[in-house]
Amino acid sequence: MTDVSLIGLGPMGIALARALQSRHTLTVWNRTAERATPILDQGTVLAPSALAAIQASPLVLICVADYAASRSILASPGVADALRGKVLVQLSTGTPQDARDDWAALSGVAYLDGALLATPGQIGRPDTPLFISGEERALASCRPALEAIAGNILYMGEPIGNAAAWDLATLSCMFGAMSGFFHGVRICESEGLKVNEFSQMIGAISPVLGEMIDAEGQAIHAGRYGEPESSMATCAGSGRLFVKQAREAKLDASFPDFLTGLFDRALGAGFANERLAAMIKVLRQPA
Ligand SMILES: NC(=O)c1ccc[n+]([C@@H]2O[C@H](COP(=O)([O-])OP(=O)(O)OC[C@H]3O[C@@H](n4cnc5c(N)ncnc54)[C@H](OP(=O)(O)O)[C@@H]3O)[C@@H](O)[C@H]2O)c1
Repeated sequence: MTDVSLIGLGPMGIALARALQSRHTLTVWNRTAERATPILDQGTVLAPSALAAIQASPLVLICVADYAASRSILASPGVADALRGKVLVQLSTGTPQDARDDWAALSGVAYLDGALLATPGQIGRPDTPLFISGEERALASCRPALEAIAGNILYMGEPIGNAAAWDLATLSCMFGAMSGFFHGVRICESEGLKVNEFSQMIGAISPVLGEMIDAEGQAIHAGRYGEPESSMATCAGSGRLFVKQAREAKLDASFPDFLTGLFDRALGAGFANERLAAMIKVLRQPA
């Protein structure tokens, strides 16, 4: 028997294995067994099947490409029975509905749904965030092992879909910012400015940007869209400058066009003198 079993050895699984190895005994399984070779030291055991891996430890982590891949493993003969009395932590990325479906298919298993907000290189740090939802008692029993992979455990409550919802909402924020960042890179390039200095500066001022996002979130929560410090019309003006600059510098205008499309809808709906948070009223309109 080992402390933890880990199913899935893609780039993320390998990082999880390395973080776990230093503090726990570990059994691993991967569809392609050769991928385990770099981590088969420090006593780590390679199981011959997913079932054997699950039987080997009281705590089972699964981190494969998606829930469909996970389901194909967890639906194998004997697996559901082998999981009874153990804690299963699902670390594959999915939607809240994926988590609910998985949980329903494994009734009787102590199931936690987790979402790592990190790249493989960020695994094992005290500040690495891990969203977790499900039974709090199950979390308490495996907290030390989870802290070995991600020190910042963000427990999001019992509803099993919560971790996936927080994860997707946060990824939406991140990829939205990334899309804007890439267009910002094109602006820098068009003016001969150094991209690495731009990205470094964004990192340095990120608390100020975070404060701006939070202010809009608080306004949405309170349903208060009036008395803007920066009105929708003012913000839309910046959007139009992106379009103008892209035309002047002959840049791809996908991002400016997307942004001005949203601003045009907000202005058309009569929100010119409201704060930026009023954009949510546009997005709440039926598609
Ligand atoms: N990489 C990241 O930055 C990151 C960050 C946060 C979350 N995640 C999440 O972590 C999960 C794993 O990601 P990853 O980066 O390790 O790489 P990945 O390419 O998403 O997943 C690779 C793993 O999935 C397995 N797999 C795929 N299809 C399978 C199937 N039908 N049956 C059994 N196993 C199957 C692969 O096995 P084989 O080796 O046999 O192909 C391998 O173990 C994903 O859900 C991803 O979204 C990744």
